[in-house]
Amino acid sequence: MTAAQSSRLWRHFFVGSLFLLSLYYLYRAINYRFGVPGRLGPPNPIATGWYYVHLIFALPVLLGAPLQFTSELRQRTPFIHRLVGRAYVAGATVAAATAIYMGAAGPYEGSRLSIAITGTLWLFFTLAAWRHAVTRNFAAHRAFMIRSYAMALVLVWLRLMFDFQDYLFFYVKNEELRDATREWASWVVPLLATEAYVSWIPQFRRRNPSEY
Ligand code: HEM
Repeated sequence: MTAAQSSRLWRHFFVGSLFLLSLYYLYRAINYRFGVPGRLGPPNPIATGWYYVHLIFALPVLLGAPLQFTSELRQRTPFIHRLVGRAYVAGATVAAATAIYMGAAGPYEGSRLSIAITGTLWLFFTLAAWRHAVTRNFAAHRAFMIRSYAMALVLVWLRLMFDFQDYLFFYVKNEELRDATREWASWVVPLLATEAYVSWIPQFRRRNPSEY
């Protein structure tokens, strides 16, 4: 197997695993909020409407994004890539805007700023990726889409960190502090890892100054 084939295989494995994890945590999030009577709060169509709008627009993001990273699909059926891409951008724009509102207006004080920043980054990365696709700067488009997807997956990172918090945050005994630490870590750590992959490591490996 060539190096290119093995790297493609690893990429498929990674994106496929992320997709399965997303489905699992999406099921848990829906079950938590919509499956238990009373979790949406007192009957109020405006307040509960935010949850529904957020979820419905986030679905094409979570379900469509893994397809976009398949290079075979991009090459063989570019119109599908463009169609799913448009649904992703529209979905992420509305889902991020509702996330900012719900997070900033939500009851958890330690999470407000964290969610507002994540939502703003998600929105910015998505619109930057879209703009670079329109101007056909595909290297920048790819990098911003990876950043956007990493932010969308906060749904996964947050719950994964919750499940492993006894190991990850054993040194934070106070429960409220632990919740806030988890909330911040859920996007700061994936964003740093994404930047390392997209920007720092390739820049570190470059030997020829003309490549900058
Ligand atoms: C495509 C990815 C996403 C999907 C499928 C999704 C889905 C959901 C679902 C099903 C809920 C209801 C469950 C719950 O309240 O815990 C929810 C709530 C929420 N989501 Fe998302 N979400 C996504 C991304 C994000 C991102 C990136 C943010 C932050 C910027 C965010 C912020 C919120 C907030 C603030 C709530 C309300 C939480 C609460 O009231 O406790 N979501 N989301």
